[in-house]
Order: sequence, then C-alpha cells, then structure tokens
Amino acid sequence: MTTKLRAAVIGIGVGWSHLTGYQASPISDCVAICDANPTILQERGEKFNIPAAARFTDYRELLSQPNIDAVSVCVPNFLHEPIVMAALQAGKHVLCEKPLATTVAAGQRMIAAAKAANRLLMVCYNHRYRPDVYWLKEQARAGTFGHIYAAKAGWMREGWIPTHGAWFTQKDKAGGGVLIDLGVHALDLALWLMDYPQPISVTGTAFAEFGPRAQKHRAIDPAPVNFDVEDMGMGFVRFANGSVLSLEASWAAHREPQQDDYYVRLFGREAGANVFTRKYSEHIVELYKLDEQQPRQPITITPDLTAYESLRRGHHAVVHHFADCVVNGATPESPAEHGLIGLQIVEGIYRSSQLGGEIRVSSQ
Ligand SMILES: NC(=O)c1ccc[n+]([C@@H]2O[C@H](COP(=O)([O-])OP(=O)(O)OC[C@H]3O[C@@H](n4cnc5c(N)ncnc54)[C@H](O)[C@@H]3O)[C@@H](O)[C@H]2O)c1
Repeated sequence: MTTKLRAAVIGIGVGWSHLTGYQASPISDCVAICDANPTILQERGEKFNIPAAARFTDYRELLSQPNIDAVSVCVPNFLHEPIVMAALQAGKHVLCEKPLATTVAAGQRMIAAAKAANRLLMVCYNHRYRPDVYWLKEQARAGTFGHIYAAKAGWMREGWIPTHGAWFTQKDKAGGGVLIDLGVHALDLALWLMDYPQPISVTGTAFAEFGPRAQKHRAIDPAPVNFDVEDMGMGFVRFANGSVLSLEASWAAHREPQQDDYYVRLFGREAGANVFTRKYSEHIVELYKLDEQQPRQPITITPDLTAYESLRRGHHAVVHHFADCVVNGATPESPAEHGLIGLQIVEGIYRSSQLGGEIRVSSQ
C-alpha cells in the first residue's frame, strides 16, 4: 500500500460526493470513475478533472485496473451485491453506499465475501457527521447517558416520493421504499448512539397510500409505472440488552406542507437527548439531565456547535475515514455488519407487516 489510497468511484449520482471526498482528503486520490451512462461519465469526469483514460462505462474493466486499491460503490441498491462481490474478488477494499444491500441474505453473502478476500467492506453512513449527532456521540462515548434503554428515530417528509417510475420506487431494484431509503439513516444514528445493540424482535407496518396514486412525487413520468414499495413505515424493535427503539419514516403523508422532520431521541439512565430538525440542513440538539448541585432539578443543555461546523462532515468525512482505515489501519466506524443490522430491522418490519405479528431476529 502506498501512503495515499488510490480510489475509484462506481456510479456518479451521489457518487460525485465520494469522488470529491477522495480528492479532498490528504490520504487519498480519486484515480478512476465509472458510470453506465456515458453522458454523466463525461460531464462529471470533466467537471472533476478525471482524465478520459480513467473513465469507464463497464465496472468490470475498471476493476481490472491494477492501480486501484479501493472503490466506492454508489449504484442503485440492487447492483450493490454484484458490484461489491466483483470488487472484492478483484482484491479491492470497498465503501458501499447505504443500504448495504436489498436483503439480509445478500448482505450476509457480501460480508462473507469480504472476510474470504481479507478486504475491508464498509457501509457509508454520512449523517453521523452532522454536528448535532457528532456532538451527541461524544457525549455517549464519555458515558453521559449511562445505559440508553429507549430511543425514537424518524425521518418524516410530507411530500417527497422519488421521481415516478425511478428505480427507488421498485421493490426489485431498491429492496423497499422509504424505510430502506431514508429510514436506514435515522435508524443508524440511533443504533450508533446506542452502541449497536443486537436486535431480537421487530414489529411494524409498511403503507403505500400515495405512490400508487401518483401523488406527492417529486416529478411525474406520464407513462404508467409500477409502484410496489412503501411510502410510510413504522416499526418497534427490542434488543438483546433490554433496550427498545421506535422508528418511523415517510416520503409522503397528509401533514404540514413541505415538512421534513428528522429526529433522534435518546432516553438514558443518567441523561436524555433530542436531535430535532424541521429542515434537514438545520442542526438542533438538546441534552437533558439532573442538575449535579440540585439533583431534584432537571436541566437542559444546548451546546454551541460552532466548532463542529468546521469538522469534515458527511460524505467527505466517511471517505476520509475509509482511507484512514485502509492506509493507516484505523478501526472502521461503520463496518458492513452495521449495514446488516439495519437491513435485519427493515426487513423485519416488511415481514411483520405481511404477517401481522412480531418477527424474531437471529444474530448475524
Ligand atoms: N448516503 C446518502 O446520503 C445517499 C444519498 C443518495 C443516494 N444514496 C445511495 O447511493 C446509491 C445511488 O443513489 P443515487 O441517488 O446516486 O442514484 P442515481 O440513480 O441518481 O445514480 C446512480 C448512478 O449509477 C449509475 N449506474 C447504474 N447502473 C450502473 C452500472 N451497472 N455500472 C455503473 N454505473 C451504473 C447510473 O447511471 C447513475 O448515474 C443508492 O444506493 C442510494 O441509496 C445515498
């Protein structure tokens, strides 16, 4: 391994933020990109100064290049498994966009393949680097909460179903709807702050009230399309350590126009907290505990997050951390196993919704 990670990005939709992340980090370079759409490939390649000879429309050709140590896989969900498997077989380390896969079984196969190939497989959870969430994680690491026995997480939008007919709204391509798209982010934040307890049971329901009627989409394709995923989902999870979590996510609901609620609430023995925003870009966090001088007195702490605004955030932070793991042997913060637990919970909600009862979750 050279001192800099030689990385490539496959899929240049959100993948552009991986590309610029590798370029921004002092310990990585973006040496190649791939997109099946030649127009996107050319536009993004030129915009971000990737030479024409390092642009590929076929990921297999990119993976055969010996000068690439690692890849970001940023393609539609159903392509995560085949492209991650091919990358591991080619000896590359992999950073895979969320969700890890479309099913638990696929996620398990990917983790087994990474172990067999002795390569790192990480899942991209960029929301952990929000200033409000990052500050809370520091509090959790310092033991401020004690045992966190309950959490509530959600991302509830009023009207934001992805484009009518896009892969995001087709079960065979996305694996599910809003729960596997937005829900996994909120779920990951709560689980990360709780130190990823092992789920043992899940109950929940998934609804499709607007998508099938072509309502509340971001854009409408005039052609009739199949919408076979949920536009709202709710779930309740029990963990092996006795903790519980409730999760809710919506792309669409009859509620205040343009509302975009995003939240994680923690209930610990020694303190609680609430990250709550009505606009995704806002950062609001409060911590609640008893006053040390007057233990009958509850107090609220609202931190100044100014110092955290200047942190490396989002995708750039994930990409830099991934490079640090491969180049310097840092311990991965978001191993593929975290992605698998998210899939166990989301898939559990889908199965519970179909069966009308609680689903047991087996450990990995
Ligand atoms: N972490 C985040 O905040 C975040 C945000 C958006 C999307 N995502 C995830 O990133 C992934 C991609 O989402 P998106 O919004 O960029 O989707 P997108 O449809 O906008 O972009 C996907 C890109 O992949 C390309 N592609 C498709 N098949 C390909 C193939 N076989 N080989 C190479 N390229 C191929 C497409 O041409 C397209 O440019 C999804 O898994 C999604 O869940 C994560």
